[in-house]
Amino acid sequence: MRFEIITIFPEFFSGFFEHGVVRRALKDGLVSVEVRDLREFTHDRHRTVDDRPFGGGEGMVLKPEPLAEALESLGIAAKAERGLSSLTLALEKNREEGASGSVDKDAGQTGTRVILLSAQGRRFTQATARELLPLERVVLVCGRYEGVDERVNSLYCDREVSIGDYVLSGGELAAAVVMDAVTRLVPGVLGNEASSEFESFGVKDTEISADETGVPRSQHGSGGLLDYPHFTRPAEFKGLAAPEVLLNGDHQQIRRWRREQQLRKTLENRPDLLEHAQLSDEDRRMLVDLGWRPGGRQPAGWPSRGRRQG
Ligand code: ADE
Repeated sequence: MRFEIITIFPEFFSGFFEHGVVRRALKDGLVSVEVRDLREFTHDRHRTVDDRPFGGGEGMVLKPEPLAEALESLGIAAKAERGLSSLTLALEKNREEGASGSVDKDAGQTGTRVILLSAQGRRFTQATARELLPLERVVLVCGRYEGVDERVNSLYCDREVSIGDYVLSGGELAAAVVMDAVTRLVPGVLGNEASSEFESFGVKDTEISADETGVPRSQHGSGGLLDYPHFTRPAEFKGLAAPEVLLNGDHQQIRRWRREQQLRKTLENRPDLLEHAQLSDEDRRMLVDLGWRPGGRQPAGWPSRGRRQG
């Protein structure tokens, strides 16, 4: 898989490319990356990439010409020229926005996708990372300032993606997040143990469809629950012992403990995920014992110490 990143801060990515899983994947040729400096596609003395917004208001907007030129330099034609007529695009957009829209309409498709990183985008989840995995090329356009001239989005971008409900000062961190999350799913990057981890409860995110509002039924591995807590040596640290059950070698007990911990952690930190998680009757019983009220509002605020795993 090849990533291409358009940014006004090309240096931003050098540290990111030189560490950990991404570095290894690049070194082993499992993914490749090219960063394009947006300023190279300007033609004035000041290498201007932004301008004041039409209609007034705060901040500056990334101008359309350098962005379009940068995209074209990567061989990215406008969507209409990429074989999709504007009618098809309009129909696709309608379908996506309609009640029965599926979040993984791109699942399994190969080729190139152009993604605009912006706070106004659709939320990036584990399911999105899996959708991008079969692609040959992912082009990541980093927005800056107040945003990007919307015509670049309409003409060239296949999807607008946000990594969370907060406003960053630019799309660079978001592009790194997307590249990291996708890269670690590329076969061979993490090895077998990690890919099977995602399926250890028999459900892959891409096998879980969207609900009627288009919200993915699962955003994480392990059937839509958060991961269980992990421990390593020493068995005792600053007076806290690692859970006994993990030391006794009884794999059935360990599996049960981990499932309970997943349920506990999800209830504590992301109760919203439980609405769409794959839950057995036993899971439900356990959750009710932990104070879950299905469909009901969970207690607001910080959980009491008592509900935390000791
Ligand atoms: N640019 C600014 N905020 C962003 C966000 N939350 N996600 C992606 N790109 C962004």
